[in-house]
Parts: sequence; C-alpha cells; structure tokens
Amino acid sequence: MNPREQHFQTRCVHVGVDKDPAYNSATTPIYPTSTFYWDDPETTKGYDYTRSGNPTRRALEENLASLEGGIDCRATCTGMSAILAALQLFKTGDHLIAGHDIYGGTYRMLADMLPDLGVEVTFVEMGNPENVRAAIKPETKGIWIETPSNPLMNIVDIEAITAIAKERDLITIADNTFLSPYFQRPIELGVDVVMHSTTKYLNGHSDVVGGAVVTSKPEHAERIGKVVNAMGLGCSPFDAWLVLRGVKTLGPRMEVHERNAGAIAAMLDEHPKVKKVYYPGLPSHPQHELAKKQQRGFGAIISCELDGDVAYVKRALSSAKLFLLAESLGGVESLWEYPDTMTHASMTERARRAAGITPQTIRLSVGIEYVDDLIDDLCTALEV
Ligand SMILES: Cc1ncc(COP(=O)(O)O)c(C=O)c1O
Repeated sequence: MNPREQHFQTRCVHVGVDKDPAYNSATTPIYPTSTFYWDDPETTKGYDYTRSGNPTRRALEENLASLEGGIDCRATCTGMSAILAALQLFKTGDHLIAGHDIYGGTYRMLADMLPDLGVEVTFVEMGNPENVRAAIKPETKGIWIETPSNPLMNIVDIEAITAIAKERDLITIADNTFLSPYFQRPIELGVDVVMHSTTKYLNGHSDVVGGAVVTSKPEHAERIGKVVNAMGLGCSPFDAWLVLRGVKTLGPRMEVHERNAGAIAAMLDEHPKVKKVYYPGLPSHPQHELAKKQQRGFGAIISCELDGDVAYVKRALSSAKLFLLAESLGGVESLWEYPDTMTHASMTERARRAAGITPQTIRLSVGIEYVDDLIDDLCTALEV
C-alpha cells in the first residue's frame, strides 16, 4: 500500500520509521554523530554532516511531511527557528500581513526583528478576510496565518485567505501548532507552507523544544532546505527521535485532550467566577461553524476572562495543584498561564490590549489526566 493512502494514525506510527536494514529495529535508530565518513571522495551513503542532514532527523521530516500532506519538511531546533526559516522566503523590501492576535514570540519576530531586515509587517484583525485584502500593497509578498489564534482562539478562514493570496500570487504560511495535523491540515485548504512548534502537541510530552516547516511546492522546499542547512537551524538527532516517538500517539492523545477540553469549557462557561470563555467548540463561539468546517476537532486550548481583580486572577492561578502555572501547551499534563506576564509579555501592553488580551485573561492547555480530577482542581482554584 502506498503510504499516502494509509490512514493518518497509521502514518503517525510508521512513516519514516521502519528503516533499519542492519538489525531490523522496530523503532528509528538515533544517529548521534556530527559527521559521516565517505567511502571515497565522491561517495557517501546519503549523509555527510549532521547540520546538513541526519537519518534520525530525516525520519521525523518524512513523517511530518506525510501528516501535513506536504512534499517536504525540515525539523528545526525550536518553533521560533522554524518561523525564522519560513520567513527566509522573503527579502528586503517585501511586505507581509499577519493577524494581530498571534503568539507573542511570533509577534516579536515580525514586529521587532523583521523591520531591521527591511521587511515590513502589517497586523490586521484576520477574522475578517476583507481586512487582509485592504492591507495588500504592491510590495506585499506573504500572509502569516495563525488559527486558532493564541491566546484568544479566534479562527481565521483559511480558504478565504488563500483565495485572496492566490489572486496576487502571495505566499501563505500557517502556524498549525494549536491543532496539529490531526485536527487541521492547512495545505489541503490551499496554504503553501505549514510551520509547527513541535514542542507542543506533536511531541506531546513537554520534554523537547523543536519546530518544523512543511512545504508543498518544490521552490519553497528547496529554499527552506538550503536555509536550514546554511543557518544551522536543524534539530539534534536525539530531539528528532523524541518528537518522532511522541508523534506515534498523536491521534489518541488529541482525542483525549479534546474530550477533556470540551467538558472543561462547558464547566467554565457556567462558572460564576468566569466572565467569558474562548473555545471554538462551544456553540456560542462566534466562529463555531467556521471551526467545524475547516477543522476536524476543536483542540484543547481554552482561554477565559475571570471575574475579579488582577490580585484574584493571580491568586487563582497560583492555587491549582494539577494545572501547573507554566508557559507552553500541548503536553499530556495540564498547564495554565497568565498571558500578560508570561506567553505574551513580548508584546507591548498596547498591542496586547489591541488584540483583546486583558489583565483578566488566562489560558489553559488541557492535558490527558482524568477529567473529573481536572474539574475539581480548577473549581478549587477559582474559589480562592
Ligand atoms: C503558536 C505557537 N507558535 C510558535 C511558538 C514558538 O515555539 P517554540 O517555543 O518551540 O520556539 C509557540 C510557542 O509557544 C506557539 O505557541
């Protein structure tokens, strides 16, 4: 059977993995070597130096390219280095459009670092695709999509944005970290390039930082491959191995994450200490129908506005026992965090308020623990 025809979860377990002709190992061997010796000055066995390529990293890259429906992938040492690599598709003088409520680190890269390199970025409220059309200038070359957005879970209509991009030959890049390819496959919706922080759901166990760039066009694949080698952005063989191990359980993990998140979102929606819940799985979410159309599931990130002053919010966040007060998301353990001083501290206060993040906003990453225990933990913490 052609691997492309196998079910998603089968590909999670097998693509890139089954190749140890030496000993028939059932898992991918780790090749912790910086260099590979040549048979003669013209002949290698496919690898010469680990910055340029490594069999363990390549196994992960084949796997992720398959899961996202791309033609190639490069696995990087962080999500930010995947973003850096993807941004090398642009050059001085180019203009990009991005959503205004995106991950704080991405915002910092686009707002603070790119202008120094002569690339200008306009941030728009991307929930309305017409805002993107209105922001296009003669120099516009690309659109950065993050959906659902971090932390407010706004949904961007991927097909509407890629249709606008195609009219003007713009490159579209989607950050698919929040849903993983299990719940959303942007390339199938017309996006050119997908990036991930593999730190999150793809690895799933909070023991790696990593990233990936998946391409769907040969010219982008070639450029990203060159950039990751030339800039030295590739991940270590050991980290690649850990992510590949994590990916094998992606489907079952995402199912439990989402089931737990649905129950917790419903509980929070009724809770007297919660003013507002941002979760696309709730029918009251303004883009619930769009989420149903372009996603296969709603994921397990929930944000909400607590009903109380800042001191109450901070007290509550420090009181949970199971929900760890920590940045990051997508691991098997539940986390919650305070965007103002944690994940979105790299945005200015003004940019945070413009994006809709308030001093009462908190974000939860729902893990795969037994859901009643999680609900008890949250209810106790919210009573402080
Ligand atoms: C949506 C999103 N994209 C990118 C990143 C950056 O990834 P990393 O921390 O692995 O560099 C993060 C990190 O939190 C994120 O949440």
